[in-house]
Amino acid sequence: MMLSATTFLAALLLITAAKPMAPCTMVVHESRAAPSKGFVQSAGAPAEQELTLRIALKQNNIAGLQAELYKVSDPASKFYGQHLSTEEVAEFVKPTDETLAAVSSWLSENKISSKPVTPAGDMLEIKIPVSQANDLLSAEFSVFTHVKTGRTSIRTLQYSLPVPLTQHIEFLHPTTIFTPPLDSMPRFVAVNPAKRATPGFDDAPASCASTITPACLQAIYGIPTTPATQTSNTLGVAGFINEWANQADLTAFLTRFRPDINSSTTFALETLDGGSNPQDSSQAGTEAVGTVLVHSLQYYTGMTSKYTVGIATGVPVTFISAGEDAPDGLEGFLDMITLLINDTNRPNVLSTSYSFNDETDLGISVASTVCNTYLQLSALGTSLIFSSGDGGVSGGGQSANCTNFVAPFPAGCPFITTVGSTSGITEVGVFFSSGGFSNYFPTPDYQAGDVAAYVASLGTTYAGKYNGSGRGFPDVSAQGMLFETVWDNLSVLADGTSCSAPTFASIIALLNDELVAAGKPTLGFLNPFLYSPAGRAALNDITSGINPGCGTLGFSASAGWDPITGLGTPNYTALRTAVGL
Ligand SMILES: *[C@@H]1O[C@H](CO)[C@@H](O)[C@H](O)[C@H]1NC(C)=O
Ligand SMILES: *[C@@H]1O[C@H](CO)[C@@H](O)[C@H](O)[C@H]1NC(C)=O
Ligand SMILES: *[C@@H]1O[C@H](CO)[C@@H](O)[C@H](O)[C@H]1NC(C)=O
Ligand SMILES: *[C@@H]1O[C@H](CO)[C@@H](O)[C@H](O)[C@H]1NC(C)=O
Ligand SMILES: *[C@@H]1O[C@H](CO)[C@@H](O)[C@H](O)[C@H]1NC(C)=O
Ligand SMILES: *[C@@H]1O[C@H](CO)[C@@H](O)[C@H](O)[C@H]1NC(C)=O
Repeated sequence: MMLSATTFLAALLLITAAKPMAPCTMVVHESRAAPSKGFVQSAGAPAEQELTLRIALKQNNIAGLQAELYKVSDPASKFYGQHLSTEEVAEFVKPTDETLAAVSSWLSENKISSKPVTPAGDMLEIKIPVSQANDLLSAEFSVFTHVKTGRTSIRTLQYSLPVPLTQHIEFLHPTTIFTPPLDSMPRFVAVNPAKRATPGFDDAPASCASTITPACLQAIYGIPTTPATQTSNTLGVAGFINEWANQADLTAFLTRFRPDINSSTTFALETLDGGSNPQDSSQAGTEAVGTVLVHSLQYYTGMTSKYTVGIATGVPVTFISAGEDAPDGLEGFLDMITLLINDTNRPNVLSTSYSFNDETDLGISVASTVCNTYLQLSALGTSLIFSSGDGGVSGGGQSANCTNFVAPFPAGCPFITTVGSTSGITEVGVFFSSGGFSNYFPTPDYQAGDVAAYVASLGTTYAGKYNGSGRGFPDVSAQGMLFETVWDNLSVLADGTSCSAPTFASIIALLNDELVAAGKPTLGFLNPFLYSPAGRAALNDITSGINPGCGTLGFSASAGWDPITGLGTPNYTALRTAVGL
């Protein structure tokens, strides 16, 4: 049968209207051959199940924001301390009108509504059923199971975009990344057998070789015990994956270790993604992970909040808790930062004792976007302080069977300060202290000389196992072994870079308190200062210790920066002078 010309045209129009993108060529945007190690594909995803996807749009000038960050955080710059406003940051990261128009017409042609989830509108959220996502993206969403934990997630090994959109969209997420659960566990060493008859406030440093208490940290680093005075100067402590801070244990901890301050001192709570801070430990037992694990996790997060409350005397602490419902596919890591970018009461310092074991599990596009989100928060003036990880050169965890050295995430992001671990009164680098070089992020200028010198000192040792043009970490270090704390009213000891990060963060919070009192700006992004001649002179250079892993002895600490202890540990008195107090 022959169609008349008009009928043919009408039919063509009908087809075009129904499948508007049909004439558009699709191109594979992201793909992988198989899921990450530890995940298996277990079933097809139910066609009608709703997916929440984030669309990361191209930001208009991230390089410009980076230049601005260095301008305001380099002590030699006349703009030092002039942190940006949320609006100023948004100008750099908002998508162009062209990008917005292209993406919104694609979504509306497909009858999909979206909402921006960042203040600058550079990340959109859509909710569509699996069947529509498969059509829209030429994808095959399936259920994948993380074998060790039994946790399931819906992912695809590949997805495509219409060719004209590839210049406007960085990625859709979560699609092709398989993030193993966050690593955060400190080593739960032992119940402390040394029953102290009296609180150990002034018995440092003799006992500090076997047990670290707030008094030890005060003695070793010269941290003042006089309370901070500025109520606007807050210190944030990040909590994820149902790890909580327990007030009863904090009170017991303060009664025992800080008899000089009010033992009812508490912290504020901010939650996201369904996060909470239950105080009844029996509630924790309802979690599938098992009571013992939850208890040690709870004890641990409690510890980071205890050590910040216990050291940053008088600084208001906010415990920021992300729940399990994180739609960011990153356990709330991205959502927490996005929340703080849009929060004018954001803390001046944020201490995070969690990391992903291996940056390559996130993939370069997601890792870069999260790192650029840290860039935004740093430009706003928050000092972001992260533990480097507890796997030596084998990454964040303990058990990786690696040939090449592994960089945890976000340790290798250049816009944060990464903290490794030391131990002993004469401090040495600790074997578990993660350190090395990112495979994704290049060496930033502020540490270029340090990284080049260390790499040169290695010669051909470990050639091919690490990337000497990557960002080196950690930046600094602090005590991280045998921290005495209180869990379920028991005295326990813990190890990990998870102990070091809140220690360093507390010191920065106390310096900020003095700066605010003196009418000066807070420190913001720390690295250009730390690596400056004045900054490095205020740190104790640690020159011995190794961090084994991947069947090697790992790197060695040495004079100057090294990938175990960074530039060294803090000296409060010297830092005070170096920041101009
Ligand atoms: C940012 O905060 C403002 C004011 O609190 C709020 O109206 C807005 O929805 C927030 N934006 C995002 C993306 O969360
Ligand atoms: C200790 O702190 C609690 C909680 O903030 C407060 O109610 C109490 O009055 C304080 N006690 C003293 C002696 O300051
Ligand atoms: C590491 O390798 C050893 C020996 O080949 C093997 O027994 C072990 O299961 C591996 N561990 C992991 C976590 O893959
Ligand atoms: C090493 O790092 C640099 C800078 O991040 C990167 O451009 C390069 O591709 C990396 N090389 C390898 C082999 O991963
Ligand atoms: C915690 O232990 C102390 C000393 O062992 C005891 O006095 C106190 O009653 C205990 N607190 C709770 C809540 O069990
Ligand atoms: C800290 O630095 C000061 C000089 O500013 C020095 O006198 C002191 O000994 C240092 N303290 C430590 C523990 O290194």
